[in-house]
Amino acid sequence: MGKKLAAGNWKMNGTSADLAEVSALIAAHPAPACDILICPPATLLSRLSDTAQGSAVQTGGQDCHANASGAHTGDIAAAMLADAGASHVILGHSERRTDHNETDAEVAAKTLAAHGAGLIAVVCIGETEAQRDAGDTLAVIGAQLDGSLPQGCTAANTVIAYEPVWAIGTGRVPSLDQITEVHDFIRARLNDRFAGQDFSLLYGGSVKPDNAAQIFAVGNVDGALVGGASLKAADFSAIISALDAA
Ligand code: PGA
Repeated sequence: MGKKLAAGNWKMNGTSADLAEVSALIAAHPAPACDILICPPATLLSRLSDTAQGSAVQTGGQDCHANASGAHTGDIAAAMLADAGASHVILGHSERRTDHNETDAEVAAKTLAAHGAGLIAVVCIGETEAQRDAGDTLAVIGAQLDGSLPQGCTAANTVIAYEPVWAIGTGRVPSLDQITEVHDFIRARLNDRFAGQDFSLLYGGSVKPDNAAQIFAVGNVDGALVGGASLKAADFSAIISALDAA
């Protein structure tokens, strides 16, 4: 695994017909300089992994349970994602934190479970607009980092995604100075706790073909977690090319 990562989060979008988008993406990027990850809905994970077999595209889940198995209707264990071909799992996305009241402690437990199953955890953190307006951004980010990352995180098993909640799906993007401030803060915080680990830090929130290159030029931005623009091969491909060139 390299440090540069273009990750697509399909959220609750995608059926069999969309596998063709992945085939087009694979054809467009036979030997990318960055890693490419697509996290489809669980129903598509196995087939998408088959489609991507032998290509530069890796696949991941969008959540997992903290337990290895048991009576948890509707949930998916980390080992099941791995069995379906996943190498990664997104954890603690703001939509999970909001829709399912996920706490930092639960995200940390899920991250441990992901590591136990050999998955790379893509741990998401980010402030709300109200928190930013109140001047609390770095305090919120620091607390989420401390609480959501268990002991044992390494650069090989964990990726951090900074996603300001107010930038997700809104078309609004922080200024490059704002991204710089938070990513530099995250890097320093991680260096304090996990000395010697050079984690991959992704920015997420309304990354599009027309703003990707600027964002990738920011120091301490190693890639992106992309929602809407990852659904169409043409858009995601342009973002991957921008990261390859960065
Ligand atoms: P967006 O979503 O790119 O559609 O803003 C990003 C995310 O939620 O990961």
